[in-house]
Amino acid sequence: MARFSSEEEFLDSFNEGFSHVASEVLLEIEAEVFGTDFGATSWSTIDQIRTFIAEMGLTEEDRLLDIGSGPGWPALFIAEQTGCSAILCDYPFTGLLQAKKRVTQDGRNAVMVQGHGAALPLPDASVEAVCHSDVLCCLSQKTEVMTECFRVLKPGGTLVFTVLELTESYVRDGRRDLDFGPEYVSVDEPYVEVLTSTGFAVEVRDWTDVFRVTVERVVAARKSRFDRLVAELGADNAADAVIRSERNIAAIDRGDLIRRFYVCHRRNPGR
Ligand SMILES: C[S@@+](CC[C@H](N)C(=O)[O-])C[C@H]1O[C@@H](n2cnc3c(N)ncnc32)[C@H](O)[C@@H]1O
Repeated sequence: MARFSSEEEFLDSFNEGFSHVASEVLLEIEAEVFGTDFGATSWSTIDQIRTFIAEMGLTEEDRLLDIGSGPGWPALFIAEQTGCSAILCDYPFTGLLQAKKRVTQDGRNAVMVQGHGAALPLPDASVEAVCHSDVLCCLSQKTEVMTECFRVLKPGGTLVFTVLELTESYVRDGRRDLDFGPEYVSVDEPYVEVLTSTGFAVEVRDWTDVFRVTVERVVAARKSRFDRLVAELGADNAADAVIRSERNIAAIDRGDLIRRFYVCHRRNPGR
């Protein structure tokens, strides 16, 4: 069930959402559930981003591109932990402005670029690592984004990402009553097939169990601060934030929705 009339309108909704991430109530929920304060809007917890870090093996010499970075989760945290240089790319501008405020406040450096994931404003083979957190389920041009990740990565570089997905049984049964998950959760072709044919060596892990616990904690945190959420977001958006998360829990329990972590190594040419 599409909530937005176009992808452009959907992307605009992020602009509106990012204008609230630094509010007291949202930061409180983020700290309680995710253990961060970077304005996270994906489902990646701090422990999961530590796994991103472990898989990418970044040093101070390396450059990391975060696609759909919003206000900077997880790239700014990863840069803080590893000393790598962070390049934040997003299409809506509001999240990048929040990120700029954050790096200024912390006295750090990061590059912010406004751009579409399917046409990254970066040269070929220019970064050692790319990450994104629940971004592919928020856009339609999935194959183009994965191809762009391959193009900007140096040979031997690493792409790590999480994504929400419909299960094979949901798709096989032809069910279309999609009242859960992100706007672009459906795929035309499994991610692993696209990534492999693009030139990546791929490993996939199922992170649905932690996802379910995280969504439950988000629902509880939102409900316990509901009046403050209404004051910040408005009654409709506050209610929607709770209802959609509850639908995600129901979808996980029915076996319709999963969340996966992908670790992809860009093969060297000719291998
Ligand atoms: C679930 S949010 C994740 C934000 C942040 N990285 C986090 O982990 O909290 C998805 C992000 O994807 C971005 N996005 C959606 N479509 C995009 C596109 N075509 N190009 C670049 N970014 C896009 C949104 O603007 C948003 O910042």
